[in-house]
Amino acid sequence: MARAVSNAPITEPVNYDDEVASYELATKQKYQDPSIASWYLKGYEGRLKLSSLASYIIARREQRCIGKALERCSPRPSRLLDVPCGTGKLAQVLSQQGREVLAADISMEMMVLAKTSYEGQPGFRGFIRCDVTKLPFADESFDTVVCLRLIHLIPPHLRRDIINELARISSYRLIVSYGLTTRFQRIRLKLRKMITGGISAPHPVRLDVARQDFEEVGLALTDSFSVLPLLSCERLFVLEKVKA
Ligand SMILES: C[S@@+](CC[C@H](N)C(=O)[O-])C[C@H]1O[C@@H](n2cnc3c(N)ncnc32)[C@H](O)[C@@H]1O
Repeated sequence: MARAVSNAPITEPVNYDDEVASYELATKQKYQDPSIASWYLKGYEGRLKLSSLASYIIARREQRCIGKALERCSPRPSRLLDVPCGTGKLAQVLSQQGREVLAADISMEMMVLAKTSYEGQPGFRGFIRCDVTKLPFADESFDTVVCLRLIHLIPPHLRRDIINELARISSYRLIVSYGLTTRFQRIRLKLRKMITGGISAPHPVRLDVARQDFEEVGLALTDSFSVLPLLSCERLFVLEKVKA
């Protein structure tokens, strides 16, 4: 199997298969370009345009679903991590719910734009630049870890490691979004690719595969939300650690 490029010592040969290359370029690197970062933010903030209507609506739904998920949590979230925080879409929602919030991302360019949303929020503790595959936090550093819009971009060979890493640093719960495949969503994504040429969710999985990830890592599913039924394959899962 191909080795992830980022983990390979520089002198070792690497098999750049399509999945590894696409993750390295289209997920890890892509958002470290200032023009992409500002395009991402404009997609859901500011003046409403027809071209970004879908991103705008999805972002509002994501904020609403995360807000609802956190409100329903018991015990209440206290120390939260937003990873990857991107351009700060969840700043207000998380700050309303947690006493302390930290934001992390691999892209400085995204975090620079997130400053406007995060700074000034009560409880905001700052930004940390890091890679989600190797988070610089001790075990159980947060009671709630939120990971929005990343897992659908992650190839299968890394997905479970990342879920495991997110679970490791949480003492209590993980709120994570996946792209889910159903027959309907497969057709929708194919049509979308034909019309726009774009692939919004390169790595969607079946619900049973997502459930296997959670079980394997010791997480129990307690709640879930369809972000925008029919128009998006994104599903938000609220998971709690199964204590031995
Ligand atoms: C689609 S954006 C989602 C951002 C935010 N959660 C949101 O919903 O707006 C994906 C984010 O993942 C970050 N990212 C990609 N690979 C990463 C990695 N290995 N470690 C940490 N962040 C990563 C990108 O920099 C980008 O900000």
